[in-house]
Amino acid sequence: MNIGKIITDKRKSLGLTQQALAEKLNISFQAVSKWENGTSYPDVTILPMLATTLKVSIDSLLGYSLQSLTEYDKRYDMEGYYWGLSPNHLCYEIMRLKPPTTPYKVLDIGCGEGKDAVFLARNGYNVTAFDISEQGLSKARELADHCGVKIDFFKADIRDFRLEADFDIIFSSGVFHYIPQEQRKNVIDSLKIHTATNGINVINVFVRKPFIPLPPDIEESEMAAGDWKSGELLTYYYDWLFRKSEERIFDCNSSGVPHKHCMDVIIAEKI
Ligand SMILES: C[S@@+](CC[C@H](N)C(=O)[O-])C[C@H]1O[C@@H](n2cnc3c(N)ncnc32)[C@H](O)[C@@H]1O
Repeated sequence: MNIGKIITDKRKSLGLTQQALAEKLNISFQAVSKWENGTSYPDVTILPMLATTLKVSIDSLLGYSLQSLTEYDKRYDMEGYYWGLSPNHLCYEIMRLKPPTTPYKVLDIGCGEGKDAVFLARNGYNVTAFDISEQGLSKARELADHCGVKIDFFKADIRDFRLEADFDIIFSSGVFHYIPQEQRKNVIDSLKIHTATNGINVINVFVRKPFIPLPPDIEESEMAAGDWKSGELLTYYYDWLFRKSEERIFDCNSSGVPHKHCMDVIIAEKI
């Protein structure tokens, strides 16, 4: 188990000294030092507070992948494209608001098998895309090669990943429900900081409604992340201009059992 290294990396990425982390946890800095050099492990009772302080999930802290991700890997391992090849309708909204008259830089978060990233690249955008599923990424790379476009695909976890470059357009579809409640502000603040002026964030997220039953195939990681409330996504962008904001309910047949989802969609512009 490389928990010591994970703690060191997370602590440093937050700019905390061992002493500062120890004070937040109300323990001695020697204890932190021992975890980090592998002479001891944190007690299970401190894991929730340690994970919150380091802004990661307990699974990430322990170096585990979540069950849901294995599920995606399995889906993407099947023949064909699990999500099909038609681009999300939001890609057309991107083209309407930011026509690719210059090669705008786009980031697709949780790109899956790459249908949207490839569509945007084919239309002249300069696309970077990441997902946590290596199987999804390998399909996405194949699709990009097949269509003759270059896309910078890489593996990353939205809960841990922090941007370094700036983008004109940040797009994410069907992924934000994996961000745990306590990490949402942090993750979104980082996306906002790394959006160029007059750039846009185009995001949709599943929200829970009391009158819609839980989907039959709800994943453990989604439950663990906590529900998104209606309108919650807007609150993180209160200081940007909303180009679009809507809530829609739609039918779904994933898992073979008909059910409904509710989704909030925003396009917000950084002025
Ligand atoms: C519903 S699919 C959407 C895929 C793609 N955006 C699309 O619309 O076709 C959710 C995607 O999120 C990815 N994902 C799940 N948890 C993630 C995480 N923590 N970080 C990055 N990607 C994640 C999954 O591997 C999956 O590809």
